[in-house]
Amino acid sequence: MASLGVNIDHIANVRQARRAVEPDPVTMALLAELGGADGITVHLREDQRHIQPRDLELLRATVRSRLNLEMAATAEMEAIALRIHPDMVTLVPEKREEVTTEGGLDVRAQAASLGPLVGRLQAAGIPVSLFIDPDSAQLEACAASGARWVELHTGAYAEASWADQPLELARLTEGSHVARSLGLRVNAGHGLTYQNVERVAAIEGMEELNIGHTIVARALAVGLQEAVRQMKALVQNPRRDPLFGSIDP
Ligand code: PXP
Repeated sequence: MASLGVNIDHIANVRQARRAVEPDPVTMALLAELGGADGITVHLREDQRHIQPRDLELLRATVRSRLNLEMAATAEMEAIALRIHPDMVTLVPEKREEVTTEGGLDVRAQAASLGPLVGRLQAAGIPVSLFIDPDSAQLEACAASGARWVELHTGAYAEASWADQPLELARLTEGSHVARSLGLRVNAGHGLTYQNVERVAAIEGMEELNIGHTIVARALAVGLQEAVRQMKALVQNPRRDPLFGSIDP
């Protein structure tokens, strides 16, 4: 059964739109936990467009589930992670001009720098997850880096046409299988919604789904605690559609 990591970056986005003090992602994280979040995820971007260093400090002191820090693989972010000591670091690619994280990391191309960074973070007791597309060569590079986890990028599945979705789902299913055969633990996320999450939650071996935008959007209508509760119900107990999905190779 998969667990749910709630990404609260978009709460900080609303605050930063006015450079105001509300809504505060720190208090909203508590509501997400009350709704059943198994973890809280934030991305401290280098341009600090949503989450601020102050948020990270306070979340570290107040989150009672697990704090997952998404960050770029830079020396500056490494120093912050070592000081804050989140429960997990997820390394993601970061470009200033992007609206949100676009592709997965190219772990193969960056093996020489990523491997030592993963080693330093994990030696400090912080498990590292690498955000990658569900591609066997990338998965092999992740295993070689020493990272304990991967987060499979679900963006291509989320954006696929109805006709192409089964293929993208099969890629994620195969990715989960290959990852586990390499000794990696598997999370997934990006672009998941109340409509498309169940088939990903049903993939064999899926441990945690990191979901943000759709939960914050629904929270405007029903409140954050209820929006998290509704998502958690889907993640924990997905419908298993025999015609589509949940194919374990
Ligand atoms: N996982 C990663 C690595 C991400 O970068 C993001 C977006 O910040 C998410 C999950 C959550 O994506 P969404 O907001 O589309 O649910």
